[in-house]
Amino acid sequence: MFTIRAWTKFDISAIAGLERECFPDAWTEEAWTAEFARADVFGYVAERDGKVVGFSCGTALFEDSEIWKVAVAESERSKGLGGALTDALLQTAKERGATRTFLEVRVGNRSAIGLYQSRGFERTRERKRYYADGEDALEMKKDL
Ligand SMILES: CC(C)(COP(=O)(O)OP(=O)(O)OC[C@H]1O[C@@H](n2cnc3c(N)ncnc32)[C@H](O)[C@@H]1OP(=O)(O)O)[C@@H](O)C(=O)NCCC(=O)NCCS
Repeated sequence: MFTIRAWTKFDISAIAGLERECFPDAWTEEAWTAEFARADVFGYVAERDGKVVGFSCGTALFEDSEIWKVAVAESERSKGLGGALTDALLQTAKERGATRTFLEVRVGNRSAIGLYQSRGFERTRERKRYYADGEDALEMKKDL
């Protein structure tokens, strides 16, 4: 049984740990703490048996919003959690008055592109060598 809930500062350590498992370019706990202090940033965690097994975060300011990260522990993937964590971000962005949302994703990240397409995102353009390791980014957009 999974629960999706808004993140709190007590989740920072679990989120940073999960991010290190899921991304090559993870933020430090200090960087996460700074983002938590921003009023325009919001996020969610997925919990199973009291353990954080996924998280999502983004930002909304006036009409624009962005999805920054969605991640699910490897053993818990393909069970609907990534979709639920994304839906929670889209709902909050809408409630905060955003009318559109953007994201960048690695062109080779098929599961993430599949996730975002399942939520109605469309490809807008590619950004060459966007990531530190030289991989291109795909920019995607969805009207809310
Ligand atoms: C991307 C990620 C968050 C998906 O999480 P998940 O819990 O497995 O996703 P879900 O089970 O909720 O699937 C949601 C949708 O994504 C799509 N999807 C998931 N895995 C996919 C795959 N390997 N290939 C294609 N589409 C996929 C499915 O079509 C699904 O659509 P549906 O809801 O209509 O069935 C997960 O793979 C992950 O954590 N990856 C590592 C971190 C990452 O790269 N994050 C994205 C960049 S920020």
